[in-house]
Amino acid sequence: MNVTVVDHPLVQHKLAILRDKNTGSKDFRELMAEVSMLMAYEAMRDLELDPVTIETPLTRMEARMLSGKKLALVAILRAGLIMVDGILRLVPAARVGHIGLYRDPQTLNPVEYYAKLPEDIRGRRVFLTDPMLATAGSAVHAIQVLKNSGAQHIKLMSIIAAPEGIARVEREHPDVEVVVAAIDDHLNDHGYIVPGLGDAGDRIYG
Ligand code: PRP
Repeated sequence: MNVTVVDHPLVQHKLAILRDKNTGSKDFRELMAEVSMLMAYEAMRDLELDPVTIETPLTRMEARMLSGKKLALVAILRAGLIMVDGILRLVPAARVGHIGLYRDPQTLNPVEYYAKLPEDIRGRRVFLTDPMLATAGSAVHAIQVLKNSGAQHIKLMSIIAAPEGIARVEREHPDVEVVVAAIDDHLNDHGYIVPGLGDAGDRIYG
């Protein structure tokens, strides 16, 4: 499995503000979207380009534009939505899907309450977003939902991951590439990433 840690200074700077417990929800939302957009720059580095001929004001030239292969952004609700908001600024033509999951507080297992994916997801490159990759129960479940719908090329984008979560995705879905901004130290007894940034969904939506 391929894991990319986006350690660009702009990402790390914004991530430090996100982690700070004194950062309020307005700034938190904006920074989440910005970090996601910057991570997408890296996650989409291998998108294919096709040659095109264009006319500049001075001359005709061969340039390159994204190939016709289409993209899908799929948010794990709730917190993954804010990442999609950011990434859509870069790829506004992408289709958007939603998978609603919450973590059962006792078992930490994901409970699915919603799934709506683009109909033609089979032919699209899929970027699955969830800011927190903790036990990875949610991500592993969502990846299976995507695969059951025919998705073949999936990248998981998480802002912060626990080593345990990375290892589980690697074990259960070794074909899925993972892009993160940081791999933290460990999970605590409640399944929270330490040092982490707290509960992303609550900090975004209350
Ligand atoms: C949080 C987080 C991830 C999940 C990570 O969601 O946003 O979706 O937990 O944990 P896991 O890797 O152990 O599955 P939560 O259940 O709090 O739902 P919410 O985003 O709707 O608040």
